[in-house]
Parts: sequence; structure tokens; C-alpha cells
Amino acid sequence: MGEYLARKQPAILQQARKAKTHSFSPYSNFAVGAALETKSGKIYTGCNIESSSYGLTICAERVAMFKAISEGESQFSRIAVCTDTDEFCPPCGACRQVLVDFAPNIKVLLLNSKNEVKETTIAALLPEAFNKDFLNNR
Ligand code: THU
Repeated sequence: MGEYLARKQPAILQQARKAKTHSFSPYSNFAVGAALETKSGKIYTGCNIESSSYGLTICAERVAMFKAISEGESQFSRIAVCTDTDEFCPPCGACRQVLVDFAPNIKVLLLNSKNEVKETTIAALLPEAFNKDFLNNR
């Protein structure tokens, strides 16, 4: 895991950046794009979509994941998250939980406005996570 400058721009990074252009974020003015890659190599994209009732907003990562799940996908290798910030923007807590639920071994690529990439994993971002195994012990 680490940081690097993405020169060639793999498809997953290009698609995360493109998805960001569809962001509907007039309240926060904070655009996010995500691209989720299945183990078979297919990519599902998402952007954040805000509501005038702010709490109904959904993040880019969950849009991408729920699109993929709704299409019957279940095996995921990587998710890229792109923002217009100099800092790397990691997934929020709610998205980390959803990623753990559906892709506990997924790699996470953070793409900033300078085209730099930081690689991490959901296991590093959400250690000691709650998951479905705890529900079976009741
Ligand atoms: N947002 C995401 O889409 N993903 C994240 O991981 C962090 C936050 C969105 C939600 C909201 O539309 C805006 O960014 C500001 O919180």
C-alpha cells in the first residue's frame, strides 16, 4: 500500500473521475466519484447524490456498490474514490460498513485532484468490523 502518481490512468481511475462529473451535490459542493471493479473485470460507477432533505444523501461508494449488487454481482476486487481535493478523501464510516459487508477483502484506491493515488484496504480502514457473523450468534 502507498501513494503514487498515476500517469497511465488505469480504467478504474478514469471511470471514477468521470463518474464524479455526474455528482449531484449543490448543497455541499463536494463532488465524489467512485468506480467499483468486480473480480471478472467489470466496472460499476457511482457519484454522490444529495437531497434537499440532507440526510437522504447517498455517497458515491454506496451508489456504485448497490448498482453492482442489484445487477447480481458479488465478487469485488477494487474500488476507486475520486474527489476534487488535494487530500485523499477516504470513504465515510457508513460506506466502510457497506464495503465490509459486501467486499471484506476489497482494495481501496483514493484519487486526488493532482492525479495522485493512495492505495489502502477496507480491512485497514475498518478494523475489528461488525459483520454478519455476529448476527448468527444470537
Ligand atoms: N461523500 C461521498 O460521496 N463519499 C464519501 O466517502 C464521503 C462523503 C459525499 C456525501 C455528500 O454528498 C458530500 O460528499 C459531503 O459530505
